Amino acid sequence: MPDWQALRSEFPLLDRYIYLNACSLGPLPRSGRAAIERYARDWDTQGTPVWFSDWLPLLDRLRTRIRALLNAPEGSTAIAPSVSVALTTLASGLPLPPGRDKILIGELDFPTIGHQWLSRPGFEVEFVPSKDGMTIPPEAFAERIDGRTALVATTHLFYTTGYLQDVRAIADAAHAKGALCLIDGYQTCGCVPLDVVAMDCDAFVGGCLKWLSGGPGTAFLYVRPELIPNVRPQGTGWFATRDPFSFTLEELVFADDARRLETGTWAVACHYAGLAGLELILDVGVEHIQDRLRDLTDRILERCDEAGVKTFTPRERDRRCGIVTLECDRPEEVEARLHAEGVIVDSRPGRVRLSPHWCVNEAELERGMDLVLEKLKTPVR
Ligand SMILES: Cc1ncc(COP(=O)(O)O)c(C=O)c1O
Repeated sequence: MPDWQALRSEFPLLDRYIYLNACSLGPLPRSGRAAIERYARDWDTQGTPVWFSDWLPLLDRLRTRIRALLNAPEGSTAIAPSVSVALTTLASGLPLPPGRDKILIGELDFPTIGHQWLSRPGFEVEFVPSKDGMTIPPEAFAERIDGRTALVATTHLFYTTGYLQDVRAIADAAHAKGALCLIDGYQTCGCVPLDVVAMDCDAFVGGCLKWLSGGPGTAFLYVRPELIPNVRPQGTGWFATRDPFSFTLEELVFADDARRLETGTWAVACHYAGLAGLELILDVGVEHIQDRLRDLTDRILERCDEAGVKTFTPRERDRRCGIVTLECDRPEEVEARLHAEGVIVDSRPGRVRLSPHWCVNEAELERGMDLVLEKLKTPVR
């Protein structure tokens, strides 16, 4: 079991705030700060040769760590600057079953998933409703998959309720009717053990910003290896080609592996930080972080129940992980007042969202919850 108290000193921000917003922006670890400083030093001391001495090896190492996080086979993952860009590439590039034009998305999914296909003429987007505003059972997806459904695209864990979907059941339902399945795991990368092969999804996207504490600019995607030869994004760049340094202009030959999903020069500064966060979390062990977060969210739910505050997060321990959302008719006001008192939370329409960092200790959680519940109950006049 990790020594949470010792690990806490890796995150200086946690000494200044009770941090209950790790699912939005993970705190910067000391190793991340050191990596950003190393990036500037490497660039400044070497100039162009830095590409070969440090930057390309760093990208290789990042790819290895991404594969470890996802349990993905070699050659099946690519780096992207954001999850939206990763989704955009997949939206045009995935070899969807011919003659089908329907994309099925969960009503509680993150908006950027819907936008990918709403922006593309020729697709009909259908949203699977949630009966309780908190969950969508896999059967609700299964019922709507028909002979027109090309793709089921949904998130692993809902960002406004914290519900962890049974994505294997959704993928099975899609495949049973000849459709593909894409999973957005941004809210599970770093807090739920991942195995894209066991999930049996056709594509997966995620990134380092949130639970991986790697800052913005490092996202990634996976495509099932058998599909890769037929993946042809409509919008690409020279680093997606088989041999970028041939400088071939008049023909496009995609890389054989998932690098065909990449585009141009990588945002290397971001990847220094992204790699540092990812390596720290892999060292701690995602399965331990998951257990810790389930303990912390158990306690948040208990405190809300005792105070009579309505929550939108499932009770079953294995159907949630790090997010609990609370009903609130003035979430932005509550967020601002908590910030003024040293507690960082997030607001979403009609809700205050709590996602404790896994190094928040028990005393801090109690103090944080005292303040959250007090602000919820006492509006500013
Ligand atoms: C589940 C999920 N997907 C996608 C995004 C957006 O990712 P990006 O800003 O990298 O496009 C978020 C951001 O909060 C998210 O929670």
